[in-house]
Amino acid sequence: MTDIELMSADELEELARLRLTPAVYDYVAGGAGDERTLAANREGFERLRLRPRILTGVSRVSAEATVLGMPLAAPVFVAPMGGPAHDLVHPDGVRAAAGGAADAGVGYMVSASSVDTLDLPGGAGRVCQVYVVDREATARLIAEAEGLGYGAVCLTADVPVPALRRRNVRHGVARAAPGRGSVHEGGFANHASYARPATWDDVAWLRSLTGLPMLLKGVMTAQDARLAADAGVDGVVVSNHGGRQLDRALGTIEVLPEVVEAVAGRAAVLLDGGVRSSTDVALALALGADAVGIGKAVMWALAAGGRAGVAGFLRSLVTDLVRTLTLLGVGSVAELGRNHVDGRHAPPTQTS
Ligand SMILES: Cc1cc2nc3c(=O)[nH]c(=O)nc-3n(C[C@H](O)[C@H](O)[C@H](O)COP(=O)(O)O)c2cc1C
Repeated sequence: MTDIELMSADELEELARLRLTPAVYDYVAGGAGDERTLAANREGFERLRLRPRILTGVSRVSAEATVLGMPLAAPVFVAPMGGPAHDLVHPDGVRAAAGGAADAGVGYMVSASSVDTLDLPGGAGRVCQVYVVDREATARLIAEAEGLGYGAVCLTADVPVPALRRRNVRHGVARAAPGRGSVHEGGFANHASYARPATWDDVAWLRSLTGLPMLLKGVMTAQDARLAADAGVDGVVVSNHGGRQLDRALGTIEVLPEVVEAVAGRAAVLLDGGVRSSTDVALALALGADAVGIGKAVMWALAAGGRAGVAGFLRSLVTDLVRTLTLLGVGSVAELGRNHVDGRHAPPTQTS
């Protein structure tokens, strides 16, 4: 085991904090408003506990899963994060992060509107995440992703306006990361990329544009989950943008059960926000998620060790997930269920 493989996400974050400038560290770590939702993502997980079953006789344990046709070593994706953020964190940037995810056999969601190229390491586990502002430019991106063998596309819908992120303002970072724009700009340069809020019409348009599985990211209510399934999306991502958009939104793990119930198997359910360890992954899967996304923790691994750092962190997450499954008494992620979660400290969520 390398040093990085042995490090927890918290330890990686501490190492990254020492290496990065305060402006870059805060750009990645910070949230919107008073950062209540940023905290809620973690608190939601902290309130939950796992319920192990014993003597189940499992011996051959695997974390492998196929998510929307994408075969993965575990149902884990790196969440989409703007390309410039990667570059600020490590000189090898997005390429190193995507390579590390591929090395570990997990999925990688590329924030397409802010990278120079979609031609990144990885296979069918790559997901092209877009914002729809300029349909022509978005269509070009999707066509490129299809040509490169991406496994899915993802529309992020929780950024109708950029949120107030005080840490960035204090560091003089107006909205997004300082740094370059994108060759994919074609009408939606980094700075204009949220100029028009997306609507359900955009969802229908994107749905009609591609035969690839389509995810809708930013779903935080049963109502929107139902509308998403009605609109024919293949998966919803329960996400509050890592606490970076609407402050005082619930933590994602708190919302997950109502979304799973509302979707009722009509679409896959993914979750991101606050996932730091294999036990977080197991909790989310047990509560009905088909896969999870990890954002900031991967950035800390990137800062700590580039591609090898990301691969090391994600590999040890997968290995540890196998161990966690074994300790829970199950042989696969599909066998996880609500009976493996003790929610007695979790507040009830609204399901209507
Ligand atoms: C630096 C940074 C940049 C991000 N950029 C994007 C983006 O371009 N598109 C998007 O859909 N989400 C973006 N997000 C949100 C993540 O995809 C994800 O929802 C969130 O980070 C998950 O929470 P976690 O960081 O606690 O794991 C970004 C997050 C961070 C930390």
